[in-house]
Amino acid sequence: MKAIVLYFSRTGQNYSNGSIVDLPCGNTAIAAGYIHEIMGADLFEVKSVAEYPADYMKCTEVAKDELNSNARPAVSEMPGNLSQYDTIFVGGPIWWGTYPMPMFSVLEQIDWAGKTVLPFSTHEGSGLGNIMSDMRRVCAGANVKPGLAIHGSNVAAARSDIEKWIEKEAK
Ligand SMILES: Cc1cc2nc3c(=O)[nH]c(=O)nc-3n(C[C@H](O)[C@H](O)[C@H](O)COP(=O)(O)O)c2cc1C
Repeated sequence: MKAIVLYFSRTGQNYSNGSIVDLPCGNTAIAAGYIHEIMGADLFEVKSVAEYPADYMKCTEVAKDELNSNARPAVSEMPGNLSQYDTIFVGGPIWWGTYPMPMFSVLEQIDWAGKTVLPFSTHEGSGLGNIMSDMRRVCAGANVKPGLAIHGSNVAAARSDIEKWIEKEAK
């Protein structure tokens, strides 16, 4: 089995357990790194061409506009040919209830037929938000497994939860 993690993550200010903190490495990037360590999955980071504001409040405003306009922001790179992978982890922060819109710019271009998809989120209270229904809609023809919600502030302690989830759903 060959796996890849497609993820989005943002460094800079974020909301963490009730206060604003500066994150040198995004929470989702840390979770993706664990998946890489645990099962040797390749990593692909989705990056939007236009950078999001490091300022948390400004970023929430940009993200809200993009969600409301159902935007598909340009991304700097597409993952390319995924035919060698049978398992695709999809991860990102919950922004206003779902993944940041650049994730959809990428996810909607993928041929999902026959893939096993493991969605995960990092969040500050919304859990998986709407991503399970979004992934079932977007990943046509894939087997979308139960997702894992990781509390972003506690991502450093989430390795064993990720391990258990992989053990149960990806093996
Ligand atoms: C623009 C924006 C919108 C957010 N919206 C939500 C939300 O709707 N629900 C939630 O639980 N957390 C929300 N958060 C918190 C993030 O989901 C959480 O901090 C996540 O772990 C960040 O991951 P990252 O560091 O990989 O970007 C939001 C954060 C940002 C920056």
